[in-house]
Amino acid sequence: MPHRWLVTGCSSGVGRALARRLVDEGEQVLVTARRPETIAEFAGLPNVVVAPLDVRDEEQCRAAIELAADRFGGLDVLVNNAGYGQFGAVEEVSPEQLLAQFETNLFGPWRLLRLAMPQWRAQGGGHALFVSSTAGFTPYPGLSAYTSSKFALEGLAESLAQEAAQFGVRVTILQLGGFATGYGRALVQPAQSVDAYVPVYGEMRTAFEHFEQLPGLNDPTLFAETVVRVVREPNPPLRVPVGPDAQAHLTAALEQRVKQLAATTDGDDFF
Ligand SMILES: NC(=O)c1ccc[n+]([C@@H]2O[C@H](COP(=O)([O-])OP(=O)(O)OC[C@H]3O[C@@H](n4cnc5c(N)ncnc54)[C@H](OP(=O)(O)O)[C@@H]3O)[C@@H](O)[C@H]2O)c1
Repeated sequence: MPHRWLVTGCSSGVGRALARRLVDEGEQVLVTARRPETIAEFAGLPNVVVAPLDVRDEEQCRAAIELAADRFGGLDVLVNNAGYGQFGAVEEVSPEQLLAQFETNLFGPWRLLRLAMPQWRAQGGGHALFVSSTAGFTPYPGLSAYTSSKFALEGLAESLAQEAAQFGVRVTILQLGGFATGYGRALVQPAQSVDAYVPVYGEMRTAFEHFEQLPGLNDPTLFAETVVRVVREPNPPLRVPVGPDAQAHLTAALEQRVKQLAATTDGDDFF
């Protein structure tokens, strides 16, 4: 049976690939973007409603959730995909930039969930998906603000999973590896630069300058395929690495954490 979806950030990248896939599958989809002209090609397609949605805007979030209720009779799946990366070391990123990073990557999904949850409690279920990153588990040089926002996003998702399971609400964190999208182009440069950090993140910064040409990046259609499979699972997993690089990276990071934990204990004595 088709689901009723709301996907944020459909202007490009993995969000756009997912919207296309859902349309092809005959799902009912609220395709959203903060610049509606970027999703004009979806307008008028069967089972599709197109809406402006900047996740920083409470009124637009409310209007989108209401639109799903009006046009589809409700919402089953919310894909919190909209996001971007703020580059820079901690001391280079201004408080305003940090706030802006969290407004989109954390507060946006939180806003939408607050609006979706009453419906989901009433209808006895829903599925919230969160587009995170391997940076939601381990940091990358030069991505302190982005990493912080994705760690926080995973905290939100894990808390929601615990609180809302009783209402039949399912939660999945998508832990993305590298995907060939507009992510590199959208990366925001820090408010000030401190040359002393170049040895730590210089290589990373150069890689982002040529992001879409990097070898081995995953195709956004892999993301779309994974999301469709996860949502159709009777018991979807809480965490899903997306891309072989994500799987390898997270395995190595987990092993490292276990080693670190072991190094802080000696029998029954803690460090
Ligand atoms: N690509 C990767 O390697 C990678 C890896 C790990 C995680 N991710 C995550 O994947 C998600 C999608 O990114 P992408 O890789 O597909 O990059 P992308 O091509 O840059 O797409 C990002 C999307 O988010 C939208 N967006 C940004 N701020 C928004 C806001 N305030 N309200 C609504 N939409 C907003 C963008 O809209 P505009 O066109 O209007 O800017 C765009 O549609 C992000 O959460 C990102 O952190 C990506």
